[in-house]
Amino acid sequence: MRSREELAAEQAAYWKGAGGTMWLAAYDRIQRGIAGFSEIALAAANAQPGERVLDVGCGTGGTTAELAKAVGADGHVLGVDISEPLVEAARARGLGNATFEVADATTHAFEPASLDLVFSRFGVMFFGDPVAAFRNVRHALKPSGRLVFLCWRTAAENPWGAVPMRAAQRFLPPMQRPGPEDPGQYSFGDRARVERILTQAGFSGLSIEPVDLMMNQGSDIPDVLQRIGDFGPLARAFKDLPPEQVVKAKAAIAEALKPYATADGVRLAGACWLVRARP
Ligand SMILES: C[S@@+](CC[C@H](N)C(=O)[O-])C[C@H]1O[C@@H](n2cnc3c(N)ncnc32)[C@H](O)[C@@H]1O
Repeated sequence: MRSREELAAEQAAYWKGAGGTMWLAAYDRIQRGIAGFSEIALAAANAQPGERVLDVGCGTGGTTAELAKAVGADGHVLGVDISEPLVEAARARGLGNATFEVADATTHAFEPASLDLVFSRFGVMFFGDPVAAFRNVRHALKPSGRLVFLCWRTAAENPWGAVPMRAAQRFLPPMQRPGPEDPGQYSFGDRARVERILTQAGFSGLSIEPVDLMMNQGSDIPDVLQRIGDFGPLARAFKDLPPEQVVKAKAAIAEALKPYATADGVRLAGACWLVRARP
């Protein structure tokens, strides 16, 4: 079993390297796919003029920009992310009332009791030590503050990711299954685990609500296939695969996606938790 430090180092290396580069390249498409979830999370966060906000794992700053608009000139948003290339892209937005730091949310020295809102869209599932990370950001919240974040539920509840992966599986080398406490895309899928982490980190007043939406993965199957290996577990798997195996895996994915192709695009279900808590 890897230690928390090893897990954190592995995640940091991924997001500073290939993960960050691929996320950046695929960002526009990803953003279109998750737009519905994003709107719901930002509405729940309900950032107000003048508020001070932290966007955890802010990536390219897409949600930071939305939060900055909401808090206005009298407010401020700090975006933190462990990945240099992503923070560079976020800074290039040139937001007047937002600043960005390359930092690990687990250890960064945030100003104590200074924030009204800690927000994250899919940026909290990759901590090596999630209890320590949430405890750290909790200390940065004012007693009246709030935590609002969005995370994926389990892989089985997210066909947009699971259907292509299952179809491609027999052409891929065996992959190590993540342990129940390992960081990763679906690591917050188990509601009881999310509750335990937040409670141990000192949060109370937990609300963990399911959000289910259809996600448009592309205009048609060729469009999806063209970019299916751009980011995520399939990108990692395709990287070291002989090209003829990639072709076979993509053919299997095309077959599996047929039932989901509609006149409005290739649409598969996505499932998230919308989590709210008080410090
Ligand atoms: C799935 S991306 C989401 C990015 C962004 N929130 C968005 O929705 O566009 C996850 C982000 O979390 C960041 N991240 C992972 N571990 C982190 C940590 N310990 N501290 C800060 N950021 C982290 C990654 O670098 C990556 O940008």
